[in-house]
Amino acid sequence: MKNLLKQYLPYLVGYKRQFFFAVLGMIAVAVGTAGTAHLIKPVLDDVFINKDIEMLKLIPFLLVGVFTLKGLGRYVQTYYTSYIGQDVVRKLRDKLVSHLTYLDMNFFKTIHSGEILSRVTNDISRIQMVVANIIPDLIRETMIIIALTGYVIYESPKLAFYFLIIMPLAIFPLSKLAKKMRKYSKLSQESTADMTSRLGEILSNIEVIKSNSTQVYERERFAKENQNVFKFIMKQVKTNALTSPIMEILGSVAIGIVIYIGGKEVIDGHMTVGAFFAFATALFMLYTPIKRLSGLYNKAQDAITANTRMHELLDTKPTIIAGTKELTNVIETISLQNVSLDYGDIHALKNITLEAKKGESIALVGDSGAGKSSLVNLLVRFYDPKEGKILINGTDNKVFTLTSLHQKIAYVTQRIYIFNDT
Ligand SMILES: Nc1ncnc2c1ncn2[C@@H]1O[C@H](COP(=O)(O)OP(=O)(O)OP(=O)(O)O)[C@@H](O)[C@H]1O
Ligand SMILES: [Mg+2]
Repeated sequence: MKNLLKQYLPYLVGYKRQFFFAVLGMIAVAVGTAGTAHLIKPVLDDVFINKDIEMLKLIPFLLVGVFTLKGLGRYVQTYYTSYIGQDVVRKLRDKLVSHLTYLDMNFFKTIHSGEILSRVTNDISRIQMVVANIIPDLIRETMIIIALTGYVIYESPKLAFYFLIIMPLAIFPLSKLAKKMRKYSKLSQESTADMTSRLGEILSNIEVIKSNSTQVYERERFAKENQNVFKFIMKQVKTNALTSPIMEILGSVAIGIVIYIGGKEVIDGHMTVGAFFAFATALFMLYTPIKRLSGLYNKAQDAITANTRMHELLDTKPTIIAGTKELTNVIETISLQNVSLDYGDIHALKNITLEAKKGESIALVGDSGAGKSSLVNLLVRFYDPKEGKILINGTDNKVFTLTSLHQKIAYVTQRIYIFNDT
């Protein structure tokens, strides 16, 4: 959680204006909330008990004023924090997609495109939750708690003392639940990714599936992944659903104690009726932000795992490293010297030596899987040879920048690509 804040707080630096308004909004919400509780006091003490008619005329305006402050604050805060969150996510998505386009060919062969899609979309939208909702809500709810707690202590330090020693007791069960939540959220994200990649597999192999009539087999394989998704999401739901009841029961214990002790204070004349009700109202109001905070903590667990998965992608570095020299001359010769290429365990090319000169037309002939495409892949550095060298005009092709290399070599793939563009 701390790491998450540390990672995403720097993003806020670029949004000073929006951040300023967001904080202003949060302060208005916190002050407005404490103000609502405080209004109870004059209503009871001055209006109902002392029958103060002037105060009665004033109260409705104060009430509307306090709620307007709270409402305005919430609006301003929501707008500006969402703005920041959405914009950070937009930048992240750009960064991730651009990063992907530079990764090795090998990366795309070993990771399913469904898995990548899931990371760029699902994982990022979980992270979006953190930046757009969790961090701002965390700050706002904490401010509300501080304002209300401050008010409660101001109104009656003695009563507040009893309440505030019970509150920390709630933290222990909640932190256990949060741990469980993190575990299930990781499992549910992983199973969702598995299911998505299985679907991708089905779609890309549909001809094979249909021609072999293996639909039943595929359905069963998919159903297994699908069942896993269901199982882990339900475990997540169960853990999450336990949080509120636990908080509520603990809250009722605290409030019971407060009513008992506060009632005695009022009966003994140490506290006015208005002060007691204002105090009790502030306590009741504390319940909501505390509950929200614990919910936020659970949501953050979800985002933490998504964040780790996204950084796995961002930290994957291409192994095909571009050179620095521009290939500006026309290609006069291409020569392969003792070139071998492996794809994992598969030996695709072995000791190939070949010389090609400008103006020659060369046909590579061989069975399917003989390695024709592999040889061409080496020229454009989709892969680097395991052994041997590829020289262009007598210079190792690793010396050149990839952009200039690709500008000089026209590559027509045997796969069909369609870009959705003009
Ligand atoms: N990315 C890859 N990962 C693992 N193995 C691969 C990969 N690309 C090709 N192969 C394997 O390497 C061998 C050579 O494949 P290549 O695509 O170069 O053959 P090809 O001569 O172009 O065949 P075709 O005529 O079918 O296009 C084959 O056994 C193939 O299965
Ligand atoms: Mg081929």
